[in-house]
Amino acid sequence: MKYSVIIAALVATALAAPAPNAQTIDFSNMDFGGDDLSTGPEFGVTKETIPVTKPSTSDIVADVKSDPASTKKARREVLKRVPGDCAPQPPNSGPQFDLGPTEWQAAVSAAYPPTNPSTLGAYTKVFDGLKGSVNQIGYRGLTTIQSYDITACATLCDKKAQCLGFNLYVERDPSLDPGVGCPNPSPITNYKCTLWSFPFLDGAADNTGETRKEFKVVLAASVGYVKPYVASNLVNFTSAGQNLYGSINAPLLDGVDTYMGFKNYPNADLNLDYYDPTVCATACDAQTAYSGRHHASTPCSYKACNFFDAYVVLKDGKAQGMTCTLYSVPWADSYAVNGGQKRSDGWFKTTNSYTYSNSRLPAPQFISVC
Ligand SMILES: *[C@@H]1O[C@H](CO)[C@@H](O)[C@H](O)[C@H]1NC(C)=O
Repeated sequence: MKYSVIIAALVATALAAPAPNAQTIDFSNMDFGGDDLSTGPEFGVTKETIPVTKPSTSDIVADVKSDPASTKKARREVLKRVPGDCAPQPPNSGPQFDLGPTEWQAAVSAAYPPTNPSTLGAYTKVFDGLKGSVNQIGYRGLTTIQSYDITACATLCDKKAQCLGFNLYVERDPSLDPGVGCPNPSPITNYKCTLWSFPFLDGAADNTGETRKEFKVVLAASVGYVKPYVASNLVNFTSAGQNLYGSINAPLLDGVDTYMGFKNYPNADLNLDYYDPTVCATACDAQTAYSGRHHASTPCSYKACNFFDAYVVLKDGKAQGMTCTLYSVPWADSYAVNGGQKRSDGWFKTTNSYTYSNSRLPAPQFISVC
């Protein structure tokens, strides 16, 4: 009760004071791991499902200990390839276009024009009519369906835990796995639905095909939809509930910087390939504990993490992972003004911004150790 009053007063003060901006986040210096973790289906794949890896609390805490909020990150990598042995590839019973690559793209684009609905249930269309498929982190699997059916693809996403978006596209695939004895087999037209546990924009659909021996794999009629995360209260943290315009940009509060730094996931020590604010909650508590162990002797108090913003930064349309920004006091939704930055090294856009406040009592901004 006492806590709520204090917090209400702090938020009110913050709202009243158009104080100088304490917090400037330069996204291009945040060193995300997301681009190097870009994944997506191999071109021969007709079905696969990728489970999420849920990081353990102890791993999240250990990562904050070894690398507390506000420092920079290293990178990781992935990827593989498949050989060709002229094995027959699974046929598709959907409409076929037995054409060379250029004619195939023209015919498929004409058959499935970029007129898919702008919304589909909870989903919003973010691109249509592209000749590439999504390639970024958060790949959750591929299903080959037998027609150009966005509703079927949306249903697959709805059934998949942590799915926040889908990409339906048409692909010109070889009927035999191209090899020395079959360098350019006749084509199969496949209808492919991929699922994603991070949002994206059109820039993510840059996987435009490949040449296998002499066979050209090409794509057309690629459409992408994303849906908002459904936020709820977490253990020890209350959700403000809304998908905010941008990330929080907090001014000084009576001269004090309440911003405690950021953590990006995935990072060199912690893999995270889906959006999960509970990871930020654990990091927030771990950061308070870290501050308690590492505070200066004067003043004899340290900042406690009482609020965080969990959001996704898209760089040129591709999710870079989840960012948690940590604060010692709650900030109102009206401070969620950082929608992104256009910089020389890319267009950074924030999306899926959700805030959470510490729900435990008492929760002072500073913890005294005197
Ligand atoms: C919730 O807070 C209590 C008290 O600080 C703590 O003991 C508990 O571990 C927290 N729960 C989670 C899931 O972090």
